[in-house]
Amino acid sequence: MKNEMILVLDFGGQYNQLIARCVRECNVYAEVHPYTITLDEIRAMEPKGIIFTGGPNSVYEESSPHYDKAILELGIPVLGICYGSQLMAYMLGGKVTTAPVSEYGRTGITADTSSRLLHGIESDTDVWMSHTDYIERVPDGFVITAHSKVCPVAAMEDPNRRLYATQFHPEVTHTREGRKIISNFVYTICNCAGDWKIDSFVDRQIEMIKEKVGDGRALCALSGGVDSSVAAVLMSKAIGRNLTCVFVDHGLLRKDEGDQVEAVFGPSGNYDLNFIRVNAADRFYSKLAGVTEPEDKRKIIGEEFIRVFEEQAKKIGAVDFLVQGTIYPDVIESGLGKSAVIKSHHNVGGLPDCVDFKEIIEPLRMLFKDEVRRAGKQIGLPTALVGRQPFPGPGLGVRIVGEVTAEKVRIVQEADAIFRGEVDKADLKQRPGQYFAALSNMRSVGVMGDFRTYDYAVVLRAVNTTDFMTAECCEIPFEVQQTCMRRIINEVKGVNRVMFDLTSKPPGTIEYE
Ligand code: XMP
Repeated sequence: MKNEMILVLDFGGQYNQLIARCVRECNVYAEVHPYTITLDEIRAMEPKGIIFTGGPNSVYEESSPHYDKAILELGIPVLGICYGSQLMAYMLGGKVTTAPVSEYGRTGITADTSSRLLHGIESDTDVWMSHTDYIERVPDGFVITAHSKVCPVAAMEDPNRRLYATQFHPEVTHTREGRKIISNFVYTICNCAGDWKIDSFVDRQIEMIKEKVGDGRALCALSGGVDSSVAAVLMSKAIGRNLTCVFVDHGLLRKDEGDQVEAVFGPSGNYDLNFIRVNAADRFYSKLAGVTEPEDKRKIIGEEFIRVFEEQAKKIGAVDFLVQGTIYPDVIESGLGKSAVIKSHHNVGGLPDCVDFKEIIEPLRMLFKDEVRRAGKQIGLPTALVGRQPFPGPGLGVRIVGEVTAEKVRIVQEADAIFRGEVDKADLKQRPGQYFAALSNMRSVGVMGDFRTYDYAVVLRAVNTTDFMTAECCEIPFEVQQTCMRRIINEVKGVNRVMFDLTSKPPGTIEYE
């Protein structure tokens, strides 16, 4: 059974994924496709509605992304957003003009709420604008349904042809009633029923895996992170003992993490799968001995990981399927043809080369991260596991400056557990996106009791980020910082200073290596 679907046609806008997520939050399935897909492909998808995304271009530029006008004649409702709205106007004979100054940021609009798209919102409401071009004259058959002080056409529509457009971005949270507008589009205009529910996705996925794998055998590299954990459990629910999970404990995990993963997936856990834990800390530490250059450390950790996995895979023998925890943001290609923000060094690459398998299975490839977490909850993974903050593949290897040693790993594990524990306990409005302790390579003189010390400085880091390409330091209340400082100094041997890293990204990075 196929879900009803909204197609997000991507013209290179930075919010393409956000649009799809907003639609899915309305319980309607959405997929992002580049504007280069053909009309026949679109017809074959049978979308209930189409959304044109924004984009950085001007519709009059020759090189700017356009689409066959016939898309507006399919009888499928279309919502154009920002560039998408200008494109719609341009395709149908309206006039788009470049404004002398860009309109950027939160803006008040006045809306005609008798519009089916804008129904139920306040007639004076705030929206998020980000444009230089604007629609000066709407095409024949269209009416203007919203305007701002400087933007004559903040929204327009031709309800007879079921064509709608907003110059502003309803998908951005700064558009106060954006969710309502998206919901109006998918429900009132596209007549969706709202059949995208994570529990039915999980059930269907399990059935599909069963059918695909049959009696075959599958192998999964389990890191204990959210994606590989959810992928493993989905697989195990479908094929039980025909799945083998290999969990490589490289000795660079957070405090007690290896045991936590084993508790969930190992013999005493809830799942009926073959679980192999490889305690390889010593191997990794000896390979890392004397290495201080961050990229060298990453390479060593990545390569050693593959070696360990390979050894295990050889013992298991040929398998039919290799399971990967790929998620939707890794799959989406931007409308301008560039691949989405994937940092190849971020994933432990190369696994497929070293394993004898016939096919890859990616059970989460259509899910966004928040949906993966919901799927994880649905299949009974512990909240602590599905709610995990991102943790890099090379683990604490990218949170220890200079040489990695067992001693430094112990220090950073202890300090990190204290910091995360205190932040989790604190009464914060919102938890930071990522927060952890790292170990600077600095030792300095201190005094404890009557003794001189010469110990390490621990660095606390807390950031918020939406895309991981940029990040802002997140404020942690001073009392919480002070408690962490006192506890770390008192409880973690080898530390005599605690610092808080204020650096944003850029110029810093989120990790500390
Ligand atoms: P940076 O340090 O590049 O981190 O600002 C951006 C985000 O990526 C995570 N990160 C990694 N994740 N393998 C991963 O799976 C890696 O090698 C890796 N390096 C960084 C980091 O935690 C942050 O969320």
